[in-house]
Amino acid sequence: MNIPSNPPLEDELGDVLEKAMHRAGLTDESLAVRTGVRAGRILDAIDYRSDLTTDELRLLAAALGLNEVGLCALGTGRYPQAEIGVLPFCVWPLRMAHGIGVANAYLVGECGSDRAVLFDSGAGLGALEAVWPHSVRRLDAVFLTHVEPEHAGGLCEVVARFAVQAAFVPRGAEAPCGRPVGEGETKVFGPLEITAYTTPGHAAAHNCYVVRAPAAKTGARLLVSGDLVFAGSAGGGYFSHEQLQTNLRRVLHAVPANTVIAPGHGPLTTVENELRYNPFLV
Ligand SMILES: [Fe+2]
Repeated sequence: MNIPSNPPLEDELGDVLEKAMHRAGLTDESLAVRTGVRAGRILDAIDYRSDLTTDELRLLAAALGLNEVGLCALGTGRYPQAEIGVLPFCVWPLRMAHGIGVANAYLVGECGSDRAVLFDSGAGLGALEAVWPHSVRRLDAVFLTHVEPEHAGGLCEVVARFAVQAAFVPRGAEAPCGRPVGEGETKVFGPLEITAYTTPGHAAAHNCYVVRAPAAKTGARLLVSGDLVFAGSAGGGYFSHEQLQTNLRRVLHAVPANTVIAPGHGPLTTVENELRYNPFLV
C-alpha cells in the first residue's frame, strides 16, 4: 500500500455518524424518529453514500450532540485543515499500513541529533523499519498510547533491536516489555520533557503524552493522542464512551491552543482546530 505523506482524514461523515449513534444508543430508526431525517438517508451516509442536506446534517448534529459546523464541513468534504506551527524539535510521523487502514507511530527528537523517542511501535519491527528515517540511529525511550496490534505490536522487538532502557506503557496495560506510566508523571530525555495523561475510553488502558522542550524559548507542544482524538473525529469508545468524551475535553483544554496533535490515525492537527471544528467537541 502506498502511504501518503499528508494522509486523508481517518474518519468520513459516515464513521462519525456511526460512532455518535453508538455513543447515544440510537439506531437509524430511532434517530430518524427524533430528527425527521429518513432512516434510509442516514444509512446511505453511514455507507459513504451521503446525500444529506445541510439542514439534515444540522438536525442530526443536534440529536447526536455533535459540533454542527464540523459535521457540516465533513458532510461537504471540506473539514478545515489545521495550520501546523513551528515545533522546537523534529517529529517524524511513521505511517504504516495495517489491515485496511493506516496507523501512525512518531519519532520525536532534537533536530540534527541521531537520538529520538518513539511513540507507539507499529505492527512490528519490519513495518517500522520500512518507514524509519536514516538519521535516527538511537532510541532513548518508547512510549505506548495503548496496546492494540497496530500500535504496540513491535514493542518487544524494538526494545531488543535498539537496546532501549525505558519503555513505558499505560498503567493497567498488558505489555511484557514496558513499565507503567500514568497521569502527571513526567520523564526527561535530553531536551524533551514528556508528561503522561491517563485517558481511558477507546481502551481501558490508554495514555496521551505531551512533549515539551522547556529550554526552547518558542515553539509549540506536541500532544501524542493515540486513539483519543483524530483530526475531525475521535476514537471509538470501545471501553467507555463517557470516559472518552470526558478525557477528550479535559486534555484538549489542558494544553495551549497551538499545541500540535499527533494522532494514532490520520493527519496532524492542532488543539485550536479541533476545539473549533471536531464533531465530538461542542
Ligand atoms: Fe488505532
